[in-house]
Amino acid sequence: MKITIVKDYAAASETAGKLMSDFVKANPSCNLCLPTGSTPEGPFEVLVRNAKAENISFANVKGFNMDEYAGLGRDDPNGYYYFVKQRIYDHLNIPPENTDAPEADAADLQAACDAYTKRVAAAGGFDFTLLGIGTDGHIAFNMPADVFHLNTHLEDLSEETIEANARFFDDPDQVPKQAITSGVGMLFSSKVIVLVACGKSKAKIMAEWLNNPVMDPHLPASILHLHPNCTVIMDEEAASEVTVK
Ligand code: PGA
Repeated sequence: MKITIVKDYAAASETAGKLMSDFVKANPSCNLCLPTGSTPEGPFEVLVRNAKAENISFANVKGFNMDEYAGLGRDDPNGYYYFVKQRIYDHLNIPPENTDAPEADAADLQAACDAYTKRVAAAGGFDFTLLGIGTDGHIAFNMPADVFHLNTHLEDLSEETIEANARFFDDPDQVPKQAITSGVGMLFSSKVIVLVACGKSKAKIMAEWLNNPVMDPHLPASILHLHPNCTVIMDEEAASEVTVK
């Protein structure tokens, strides 16, 4: 695992966004696994800016949402597909049929999970995955648990996560209590993983993770200790309690 510490969120966004745009330039038919939240806003802006400046084509790129709130459809402004569409797809020449997300508004959510696992596998799996990290160590919506769930599955969101995500909703009661997420196995199978963590609120979990070379499903990001091509980008605040640098 490569650890990169930069000054602040703007620098982390530049670093992560450039890793993404350089990856697409070198791999024009790649599969991107894309997150939502505050963390990817900056890297996505840099990706779009670099793609335009460098004429990087997304015509053969496939974009996959890594997760989606249960019950929300693709045109729901609080939904994760909508988030990625607004920030990336609407600005680049990626064909809509090359974009995918779990069908979180399906009547049968288990069937939707299984179908997503199959679609991602049929496409060849993820090539490049951008991750944030929750203050409890979750990646995508893989919450702390007794086991690592490998495939797409439904998760009950922790109170901590529901509270953290309430800032995106007009009414905190609207935050869905469940989400569909790509499993840890799907994320881990990605050829390249870039995880970005910024701000004081991430300092404790980054220290708990990076200072301890153990794998523990109660801290889902810990599986990344073993990944052959994972870069962790932190700003100085998030890295402030990390002793292994
Ligand atoms: P954030 O969320 O990017 O909004 O901090 C990260 C996460 O919960 O995975």
